[in-house]
Amino acid sequence: MTQWNVDAVMNIAERPDIVMVAGEGSWLTDNQGKRYLDFLQGWAVNCLGHSHPAIVEAISEQAGKLINPSPAFYNEPMIALSQLLVKHSGFDQVFFANSGAEANEGAIKLARKWGSKYKNGAYEIICFERAFHGRTLATMSASGKPEWAELFTPKLAGFKHVPLNDINAVLAAINKNTVAVMLEPVQGEAGVIAADPLFLRQLREVTKKQDLLLIVDEVQTGMGRTGQLFAHQHADIQPDMMTLGKGLGGGFPLSALLVTDQVACFDFGDQGGTFNGNPLATAAGLAVLTELIRPGFMDAVNEKSQQLSRSLKTLQQHDRYGLIKSVRGQGLLQAICFHRPVAKELMKRAFQAGLLINATQADVIRFMPSLLISEDEIGLMEDIMLQQVLNR
Ligand SMILES: Cc1ncc(COP(=O)(O)O)c(C=O)c1O
Repeated sequence: MTQWNVDAVMNIAERPDIVMVAGEGSWLTDNQGKRYLDFLQGWAVNCLGHSHPAIVEAISEQAGKLINPSPAFYNEPMIALSQLLVKHSGFDQVFFANSGAEANEGAIKLARKWGSKYKNGAYEIICFERAFHGRTLATMSASGKPEWAELFTPKLAGFKHVPLNDINAVLAAINKNTVAVMLEPVQGEAGVIAADPLFLRQLREVTKKQDLLLIVDEVQTGMGRTGQLFAHQHADIQPDMMTLGKGLGGGFPLSALLVTDQVACFDFGDQGGTFNGNPLATAAGLAVLTELIRPGFMDAVNEKSQQLSRSLKTLQQHDRYGLIKSVRGQGLLQAICFHRPVAKELMKRAFQAGLLINATQADVIRFMPSLLISEDEIGLMEDIMLQQVLNR
């Protein structure tokens, strides 16, 4: 690190010895002027790529007008974004927050409140093995990451974990204390593992029959990432709650909890936060959603998804050392699975070659480019992966 002393930055992640200084579309630039083709996009956050003009304009304009009147007042972009989300989702009300974990905390709290009001104090939530719902204490407790089992104990009580795509395991876990089932339509952190559409439909049926809430955590899968505006729409179901984050603000911190009228039962003071629904963040969200619902936008995402999928299969066909076991994923959330734990080493090689990818597991590399990725950029990723990463 030649120009910067980073000692004052808390060291909570293994960071390379560079500083990122600029971003545009699918490209990031570091302090040495080196450019990186970005298939990470802030972990699926910059859904329109880096510094999309519509977001830049919305934030700049809003910043000159009003940054934060406090959540005790309505503001214009908050109202407009909540209306647009409701219109395109089938939910009735939106609570804005700042991170995916915070939106999920809201969902957990609302489920408990609903249980206390309408289900004799039921509070338990059925979650899934290997799930990832965030890094607050409650959301870590809801997550099913094996590495976290002994971390920050005692965990928050009230979460049961069962295998994904196993409806009998869900049925066996339900008891008089159960209030909800919570899942990611595609488990991203676990290595891009999709819930079967059939399983999602079964879950919806079971939860309806047994008067339980169905909560979908679409922090990673929402906002067009899987080729539908929201991933649960692939299974044609309407959950009771949905959380959004990441892509919602297109890079600006913004998350949301969307619920139906039947579920919305917070009393004043139960839920809130200083920055929640601030006009700067919601103006960014409004700019993002306005782009995503333009005619033809999702068709283009689906075309790029197919191209990415073909490209990853090409890598498998030309994988000289037979490292690749399979290719999986949905939309522009895809992954390569390896026979051996080589993901981190390959990620480092890619980084040296100017390509950013993510080793989400020891044997899985995840690809989550901008939804506006170009054909040429996917082709370039394929070339780099073949020549400088896999077959080197
Ligand atoms: C499915 C899911 N839920 C929740 C979160 C937590 O979001 P945040 O890091 O914004 O708190 C993530 C982040 O990766 C996620 O993928």
